[in-house]
Amino acid sequence: MLSVLGSHICLCHGSFVVIGISMRFFLIGRSWPCFLFFSNPWCKNNMNNLVLSLAPRFTKLQSLSLRQNMPQLEDDAVETIANYCHDLHDLDLSKSLRLTDRALYALACGCPRLTKLNISGCSSFSDSALAYLTSFCRNLKCLNLCGCVKAATNRALQAIACNCNQLQYLNLGWCEGVGDKGVISLALGCPNLSALDLCGCVLITDESVIALATGCPHLRSLGLYYCQNITDRAMYSLANSCVKSKRGLWDSVRNNDVKGLMNLNISQCTALTPPAVQAVCDSFPSLHTCPERHSLIISGCLSLTSVHCACAVQAHRSGRSAITHHAY
Ligand SMILES: *[C@@H]1O[C@H](CO)[C@@H](O)[C@H](O)[C@H]1NC(C)=O
Ligand SMILES: *[C@@H]1O[C@H](CO)[C@@H](O)[C@H](O)[C@H]1NC(C)=O
Ligand SMILES: *[C@@H]1O[C@H](CO)[C@@H](O)[C@H](O)[C@H]1NC(C)=O
Ligand SMILES: *[C@@H]1O[C@H](CO)[C@@H](O)[C@H](O)[C@H]1NC(C)=O
Repeated sequence: MLSVLGSHICLCHGSFVVIGISMRFFLIGRSWPCFLFFSNPWCKNNMNNLVLSLAPRFTKLQSLSLRQNMPQLEDDAVETIANYCHDLHDLDLSKSLRLTDRALYALACGCPRLTKLNISGCSSFSDSALAYLTSFCRNLKCLNLCGCVKAATNRALQAIACNCNQLQYLNLGWCEGVGDKGVISLALGCPNLSALDLCGCVLITDESVIALATGCPHLRSLGLYYCQNITDRAMYSLANSCVKSKRGLWDSVRNNDVKGLMNLNISQCTALTPPAVQAVCDSFPSLHTCPERHSLIISGCLSLTSVHCACAVQAHRSGRSAITHHAY
């Protein structure tokens, strides 16, 4: 039954019953990753052994999710994946607390085609192992390092900036070692960055945001939750980056790319004042503070209650769906 799934397999928690649905997804479109759900206790408690025995049979595997409730995956399982699944593009190892640097070294050598890697919560990886991985996996576009406190250092970010210039999504949430030096290198090395989460990166200052505003014209989502050293200067640099990019308006229109920042989380950034945040709002039409689903998040900033962005989300939504329909 498993082999029918061909080159896409994901091991998750859930139920075996879902395989049928997964196969439908697989038939509908090859880009859909297939999900194999293992909910029965035996499967859940044997994920490491399942991977050890299945990985060698799926040498064309492209997408693999090994998200766990209880950390049980060990280095030998990741080494087996790296030894057999050389086409792997998308790997989710989040919350694999038992993995060590051995896993990253193995992936670096065995899976150079990775474009998406999720090691959120893998707190024992070191920055040298992460830097090593990026020197082999140079096609990374999407990297989740949330909570990788030891791995996400300025040194590792410099390696990422140097090796992975296609990076588009990066989550550095709660990586307390990240400072301006690292973020500035990212801004210089990864011009296509479109989503960056720096929540809880308490060391970063305005210099990081200014570098991003200058170096990353495609930035659409920025998380600065609890970055309490961010001041109005950072907000004005974001607001001005929009003015600058409007000079290339026709290029932008052609690339369906006029939106600018669409998500900004400055919750708990207590040093900000209303005029600076209002300037950001006024520059980016997609930011809004409409009821439900704010895209400018200012909760916890009592001084910012007077900031109001135009609530134009309805117009944007219809605009976007028109474009979407046109594209397909
Ligand atoms: C990565 O893993 C975390 C934790 O399991 C999850 O919340 C997140 O959605 C995953 N995907 C990406 C793209 O970061
Ligand atoms: C950035 O994105 C553009 C458009 O998608 C692409 O043409 C370009 O090659 C990308 N640059 C890098 C360094 O990946
Ligand atoms: C803002 O960011 C923090 C940290 O990532 C997150 O917990 C919170 O949910 C975000 N707020 C919204 C409304 O997305
Ligand atoms: C952040 O702000 C605090 C309090 O204002 C200050 O003591 C600290 O030096 C600042 N940190 C950086 C990295 O600038």
